[in-house]
Amino acid sequence: MHIAILPGDGIGPEVTREAVRVLDALNLGVTMTTGDVGGAAYKAHGHPLPPATLALAEGADAILFGAVGDPDCDALDRHLRPEQAILGLRKALTLFANLRPAKVFAGMEGHSALRPEVAGAIDMVIVRELNGDVYFGEKGFRTNAAGEREGYDVMSYSTSEVRRIAHIAFRAAQTRSHRVCSVDKANVLETSQLWRDVVIDVAREYPDVALEHMYVDNAAMQLVRKPGHFDVVLTGNLFGDILSDQASMCVGSIGLLASASLGERQTAHGTFGLYEPIHGSAPDIAGQGLANPMATILSAAMLLRHSLGLNQAADRIEAAVAGALAGGVLSRDLGGTAGTAEIGDAVVARL
Ligand code: IPM
Ligand code: MG
Repeated sequence: MHIAILPGDGIGPEVTREAVRVLDALNLGVTMTTGDVGGAAYKAHGHPLPPATLALAEGADAILFGAVGDPDCDALDRHLRPEQAILGLRKALTLFANLRPAKVFAGMEGHSALRPEVAGAIDMVIVRELNGDVYFGEKGFRTNAAGEREGYDVMSYSTSEVRRIAHIAFRAAQTRSHRVCSVDKANVLETSQLWRDVVIDVAREYPDVALEHMYVDNAAMQLVRKPGHFDVVLTGNLFGDILSDQASMCVGSIGLLASASLGERQTAHGTFGLYEPIHGSAPDIAGQGLANPMATILSAAMLLRHSLGLNQAADRIEAAVAGALAGGVLSRDLGGTAGTAEIGDAVVARL
């Protein structure tokens, strides 16, 4: 079994290092190969997703990804910016299904931005479509009739794109509490009307799952008003990006949320996928040993479960993170003082 490790920019290398230490500590006999990605790859090779990195990712059973984003690169043409690395991997490898679980760890209710009794009920998974929407539509700059410069990004979804992600959400709901909330903006957008029509159609194949629809503005409100209401949240690329950051603060910190990006390709023991924390490269604290590696460590656990079929090892990692949190090993984002390596130590010690 082979894992491609792509640390990337900012805090990416620091948090990935701790996740690799955790994997090493489990003695799973997996091979890990590191590759350059993002701004770091641009600086070394002139491209954020060099062919060698794409080949490494394609040839592995799974990818553990840190973060990309580097203020030094903000002025580059869009196709050379660090973010194109993650977008390019998701697209090139057809990783269309992004699972972002959000659950409050026992004893962590008081760290949520919400009241503890509201936060305590959070246990959802956001199923975000990852290969379409306004992210991948035609985009550019143009001059309008008045001679003014304008920017545009086309939002669209095809029926098959909505269909395949809807199946992922309904199947996930069957393993949970059998409820799907599909989030769209069908009162304004045709893309969302098609989304809604297709989701209703797919739902017919899952009579055991209850489906509701919610406009994205209302969903943003309900997510802080009564987050316990949600089980599986099915949504598009842009809305899912926004709602998952919001969900992270409901849980307590963006430093705690892991994600899996999956497609249809199967490995010997599961589904090929890319695993990454939902947070970014946090250039303001990069290199200082302050970042919380837990989201990346939890992403490694998802990797073991979904791509390598190592469920027990995944459970052990998750229990070790929960144990560290319960034991008061808290990084700055959670009001504590524990540094990146110290948190890695605490998790490894609990394995
Ligand atoms: C995420 C990130 C990415 C996204 C960026 C880095 C391109 O915000 O994974 O949520 O927008 O999808
Ligand atoms: Mg995001």
